[in-house]
Amino acid sequence: MNKFPKEFLWGASTSAYQFEGAINEGGKVPSIMDRFDEQPTYPKGITGFKHASDHYNNWKEDVALMAEMGFKSYRFSISWPRIIKNKEGDVNNEGIKFYNNLIDELLKHKIEPIVTMFHFDTPDFIQEVGGACTNAFTELFEKYSKVLFENFGSKIKYWLTINELNMFALAAQVIGVVPPGQNVNPWQLMHHLNVAQAKSIILCRKMCPDAKIGPAPNISTVYSNSNKPEDYLAKLNLDMVRNWVYLDAVCRGGYSSIFMNGLKKMGLEIVITEDENKMLKNSKPDFIAFNYYSTMTAQMPINESFKKEKNNKDQQTGLSIPGFGEAVKNNQLQKTQFGWEIDPIGFRNTLREVYDRYQLPIMITENGIGARDVLTKDGKVHDDYRIDYYQKHIEQMALAIEDGVEMIGYMPWSAIDLVSTHEGVSKRYGFVYVNRDEFDLKDMKRIKKDSFYWYKKLIASNGEEI
Ligand code: BG6
Repeated sequence: MNKFPKEFLWGASTSAYQFEGAINEGGKVPSIMDRFDEQPTYPKGITGFKHASDHYNNWKEDVALMAEMGFKSYRFSISWPRIIKNKEGDVNNEGIKFYNNLIDELLKHKIEPIVTMFHFDTPDFIQEVGGACTNAFTELFEKYSKVLFENFGSKIKYWLTINELNMFALAAQVIGVVPPGQNVNPWQLMHHLNVAQAKSIILCRKMCPDAKIGPAPNISTVYSNSNKPEDYLAKLNLDMVRNWVYLDAVCRGGYSSIFMNGLKKMGLEIVITEDENKMLKNSKPDFIAFNYYSTMTAQMPINESFKKEKNNKDQQTGLSIPGFGEAVKNNQLQKTQFGWEIDPIGFRNTLREVYDRYQLPIMITENGIGARDVLTKDGKVHDDYRIDYYQKHIEQMALAIEDGVEMIGYMPWSAIDLVSTHEGVSKRYGFVYVNRDEFDLKDMKRIKKDSFYWYKKLIASNGEEI
C-alpha cells in the first residue's frame, strides 16, 4: 500500500525577503525586513537581505530546478511592499507582473503555486503609522488581500494567510516587527493579526469561492519536563499560548475562557469588539498549514521573575512565556549545528495532536535543518545530515498518515538556499546551494546538493523510497 495519497503535494518553501533580493528593483518600496540584518545581533556581512539569493533575477532558472526535482508544489510568499506602493493602496504593476510570470512558469511545469500572503515583511509605510498593532494594519491587509485575489485569484488554489502568526506576536521584537523599546501587549498584537487574517479569509470566500485558504503558524508538541504536576501545568499553559490559542481563534472562532482569564490575572486583557468576534466566527479555514522544526519542553518557573531576555536568540528556541511557563532544554534530543533540537517522533506527535483537535487536512509548510554546508573543490555539497533529517521526519509523517492524519502536502524549508532570518547566509537550508557567502556575492551560481538528488528520487516514488 502506498503511504502517501496519490495527489500528495511534495515540494518546498521560500519567503520573499529571504530569497528575492532586489529590494530596490521593480518598484518595490522599503519594508522592515530590508534592514533587519543591520541589527547589532545579526551576523555581520555585506549584503544579507538586500541581495539574498537574487531570485528576483533568477526566477526562471530556479523554477527549472524545482521542476527537475519533480516538485508538485512550491510555497512562496508574495512581498506586500512589492505589490502596494503606499498607504493609499496604489498598486505596483511591475510587482504584479513579476508574480504573474512566476506563477505562470510554475503552472507550465505543473507545479502548484501555494501563496503565503504575508511573511514578516511589513512595508515601512505601515510601520510608520504604528505597524501590526493598529487598525490601520488590519484595514490595509484587507485591501492588499483584495489586490492579490483580483490579480492572482484565477490561478491560485491554495492561499496561506500570515506566516507564523504566533511567532510574529510572541517574538515580535526578535523578528523585528515591533521596534525595540516599543511596549506592546503581545496578545493585543495577536488579536489584531487574527482579525486581519479573518478579514482576508472572508474576502477570499467572496472573491475566490473555489480556492482553499488556511493559516500557517509554527506548531510543536510541548512536553512536560518531569512528571511533577506543576510541570504538566506549565506544559498545558505553554501549549495554549504557543499553539492552540491561534488555531482556536481561526478554527473554533474565538478564544478559550482559560486563556482570557489568564490574561486578566496578568493585567494583559485584550480589547475585542462585537464585530471582530463575529468575524472570527465567520472565517473558518479549509485546512491547517503549519511549520515544524522542533518540540518544546516546559517547566513551571522556579522563580516567576525569570529573565525574558535569555529566551530571545531566535523565534524557535527557548520561547518561555512569562506568567505561563518556562521552556527548558530537552536532554533526550540531538541538536543541529545551530543548537535547534531534532525531534522526528515529535513531528508525528504534533501532526496527531493538531489533527485530533481540529479535524482539518494538514499541509506542512516548513520543516528542515539549517547547516554550514561546505562546497567541495569539485563543486559538490555532501549534505548527508540533511538527508538523514528528512528521512527521519518523512518516516514519521508516513506513520502519522497511517495513524489516520489527513495530509495534503509537505513543503520543507527551503527549496533553494536563502538568507536565514537570524543567522545569515552561513546557515543554509536548501536542496540547491547558492554560491555566495556573508562577505562576497560571488556568482550566485546554483549548485545541486546531494539532497537534491535524494529528494528527486523520493518524490518520483511518491515517498516510497525514503
Ligand atoms: C521560520 C520562518 O520561523 O523559521 C522562516 O518562517 C525562517 O522565515 C525559518 O527562516 C528558520 O529560521 P532561521 O532563523 O534559521 O532562518
